[in-house]
Amino acid sequence: MILENFKRESIVPMPVTFISTISENGVRNIAPYSCFMPVLRPFDLVCVASAKRRDTLVNLKSTGEFVINMPGTDMADKVIPTALHVPPDIDEFELAGLKEKPSKKIKAPGIEGCYAWMECKLDHIIEEVYNGFPYVLILGKVVYLEVEDSVYDKESGSWDVEKARPLMMTGSDEGMRFCTVNSIGKFEPYGAMFKNGKDPLERMYKKEEGQECK
Ligand SMILES: Cc1cc2nc3c(=O)[nH]c(=O)nc-3n(C[C@H](O)[C@H](O)[C@H](O)COP(=O)(O)O)c2cc1C
Repeated sequence: MILENFKRESIVPMPVTFISTISENGVRNIAPYSCFMPVLRPFDLVCVASAKRRDTLVNLKSTGEFVINMPGTDMADKVIPTALHVPPDIDEFELAGLKEKPSKKIKAPGIEGCYAWMECKLDHIIEEVYNGFPYVLILGKVVYLEVEDSVYDKESGSWDVEKARPLMMTGSDEGMRFCTVNSIGKFEPYGAMFKNGKDPLERMYKKEEGQECK
C-alpha cells in the first residue's frame, strides 16, 4: 500500500502530551501536543512543533515557561476539552475539569493526574514557513523533571510503561486513534552500540550510592 507523503502520522505512534502555560495576565491554558520529542541523549532539551495560532505559543513566548505533562490513557477524555479553540481569556483547567499541580521551578502549573511532568524554560524558537504555512519549532530546556513514584523503579532507573499506560495517538483518514504501548520484554544496554561495549555517557546515568538528583 503506497500512501500519500503527508500521511506520515498514519503510520507513526505519537505521544499525547498536555502543554500547560499561563498568560501574562495569569490565565491558565492547556493544549494537547503530539509533535514532541526529547532532543538527543543526554541533553536536557525538548522540541515541540507548533502552528503559529496557538495561545500556548503566545504564552510561552511572553512568559518563557511551559510544562510538558505526560498523561496516561485514563486522561483520554481530557484531550478534546483541552484542544477546543476557545478565546485566550478562558481558564482551560476549569474548562476541562483539571486540577493544577503547582510547579517547583516555574510559575506555569502542571496538571494533577498525569504520570510525569517536565517544567521547561524556553530556550529558543525557530520560525519557519513551509509551502506558505507558518510554523515554529520550540526548543525548551527542562529545568525540573518529576515522575510518579508508582510507575518508576529507582534501582534500575526505568519506568513501567504497563503501569503508566502513556496516552498515544496515531492518525488515520477518519481522525485520531488513541492507544498505548506494551513492553515486549527485550532489553539492550546503550553500550551494545559501541565496539568496546561501554556507553560513553554511563557516568551521567549511574548515580553514586545515596546520591539524589538535584
Ligand atoms: C492529540 C492532539 C495532538 C495535537 N498536537 C499538536 C501539535 O503537536 N502541534 C500543534 O500546533 N497543535 C497540535 N494540536 C492542536 C492543538 O492542541 C489545538 O489547536 C489547541 O486548541 C491549541 O490550544 P491553544 O490555542 O490554547 O494553545 C493537537 C491536538 C490534539 C487533539
